Amino acid sequence: MSDIFSGSDLQTGEYSEALASLIADLNAVVPEARKAISAAADRKAIEQLRVQFLGKKGRITKLNQRLGKLSGEERPVAGKLLNTQRTEITALLEKRTAELEVRELESRIAEEAVDVTLPGIRPARGGLHPVTRVTREIEEIFRSMGFRLESGPEVETEWLNFDALNMPEDHPARDMQDTFYTERGHVLRTHTSPTQLRSMLAAKPPLAVITTGKVYRHDSDATHSPMFHQMEGFLVDEAISMGHLKGVLHEFLRALYGPDVRTRFRPSFFPFTEPSAEVDIWFEARGGWMEVLGCGMIHPAVLRNGGIDPERYSGFAFGLGIDRMTCIKFGIPDLRLLFENDLRFLRQFQG
Ligand code: PHE
Repeated sequence: MSDIFSGSDLQTGEYSEALASLIADLNAVVPEARKAISAAADRKAIEQLRVQFLGKKGRITKLNQRLGKLSGEERPVAGKLLNTQRTEITALLEKRTAELEVRELESRIAEEAVDVTLPGIRPARGGLHPVTRVTREIEEIFRSMGFRLESGPEVETEWLNFDALNMPEDHPARDMQDTFYTERGHVLRTHTSPTQLRSMLAAKPPLAVITTGKVYRHDSDATHSPMFHQMEGFLVDEAISMGHLKGVLHEFLRALYGPDVRTRFRPSFFPFTEPSAEVDIWFEARGGWMEVLGCGMIHPAVLRNGGIDPERYSGFAFGLGIDRMTCIKFGIPDLRLLFENDLRFLRQFQG
């Protein structure tokens, strides 16, 4: 579109001064607008220019007002030129707006682009707690020997935790285990042995059952924690002897620690087994024997409390400390490390 008006639409060939100056001003508007619009950096600037050139008080409107001063002959000529300039400026604004939109889109695309070839951020990976790992391993070993896994409550009746296990109220053995009492004849179980009775009362022999879980005693030092983990195992059938007990424990300890494990089987006492024994394992990290389990032949009174005839059936039972067995397995010198959950410690067992 031309911004130089030739004046050929005029019949006379002579312009009034008002028309001449209006034409000069009109012809100056478009180059000025073109320069400003092409420099506009964003859509806000475009909007300002639109107001400045085409708005109610804008340049074109002001020039339009000057048409009134022209003669009836000159007015349409200048009006036509004015319209042409208005259209031209409108087109320039639209073109620049479109350009800016494209540029905005391009920069947004560039900003939001995902480089799929970049290496990803690996999510932090958790691992099983060493006690959980050893618990599962122990469960697996006994499962492979035909034992069934059961569970029992951590809040246990005093009856099952003590009395039914041949430890009546005044029995000195109750002092062996510093008990946390809860309410109405309940305690935090001090061992997993009450699960023996729960299993006996729920099914008939032959029974071969293991239970793993938390137990609680008022006790804390390098080899004792107020909450720790035990595994209970027992087997009841006809003609079960101490030989079966030794055989099962022997197999188990070798499966867990390998053929070179050093163990010691020595006589002991528990109210719920007769005879009773304890097993110690040589613990290199502490340079000494560590007691890891108690066991024995289930006391006839316990079988009777479990609804089993001791004349016909016999059985063995054992209870082992999973945390201590974990310490031996990994050479952890202090049991308390297992309960502090220091990530620097736990990360060593990620696998
Ligand atoms: N309940 C005993 C304890 O916690 C261990 C044990 C279980 C001993 C079964 C004999 C038989 O020390």
